[in-house]
Amino acid sequence: MKKIEAIIRPEVFPKVREGLAVEGIDGLSITEIAGCGRQEGRTGIFRGNTYEMEFSSKLKLEMVVDNAKVQPIIDVILRDASTGEVGDGKIFIYPVEQAIRIRTKEVGAIAVE
Ligand SMILES: Nc1ncnc2c1ncn2[C@@H]1O[C@H](COP(=O)(O)OP(=O)(O)OP(=O)(O)O)[C@@H](O)[C@H]1O
Ligand SMILES: [Mg+2]
Repeated sequence: MKKIEAIIRPEVFPKVREGLAVEGIDGLSITEIAGCGRQEGRTGIFRGNTYEMEFSSKLKLEMVVDNAKVQPIIDVILRDASTGEVGDGKIFIYPVEQAIRIRTKEVGAIAVE
C-alpha cells in the first residue's frame, strides 16, 4: 500500500473528486492548508510598490491505496488538477506499513478498498 498526498488548488477539487470516483476511489481525507512553493514568501516589486507574496490556500488530499491504484490516481490528478499555471501543486507518495478497518478488524489492502 501507498499513501498518496496531493496538494491541489481548492477550485479543481470537484473535478479531481469526480475523476477519482471513476477510478473507484471512495476513501480519502481532505484538509484545508496554507502553503508556499517557489513563488510565495518572496518580495516583489509591482508598479513601484514592494509587496510580499504570503501563503496560498490549498487543499491536501490523502489517500491510502493498493499499489495497483497508485498510477491511475496519479494520472487523474495530473489530468484534472492541472491549469498549467504556477501553483498547481504537488504529489507525494509514501509507503504504508499497515491499514486496519476498525469496524471489521480487516487488515491490509482489503481495509482500504
Ligand atoms: N517541497 C514541498 N514540500 C511540501 N509541500 C510543498 C512543497 N512544494 C510545494 N508544496 C505545497 O504545494 C503547494 C503548491 O506548490 P506549487 O505548485 O506552487 O509548487 P512550486 O514548486 O512553486 O511549483 P510551481 O512553480 O508550478 O508553482 C504549496 O502551497 C505547498 O502547500
Ligand atoms: Mg509555486
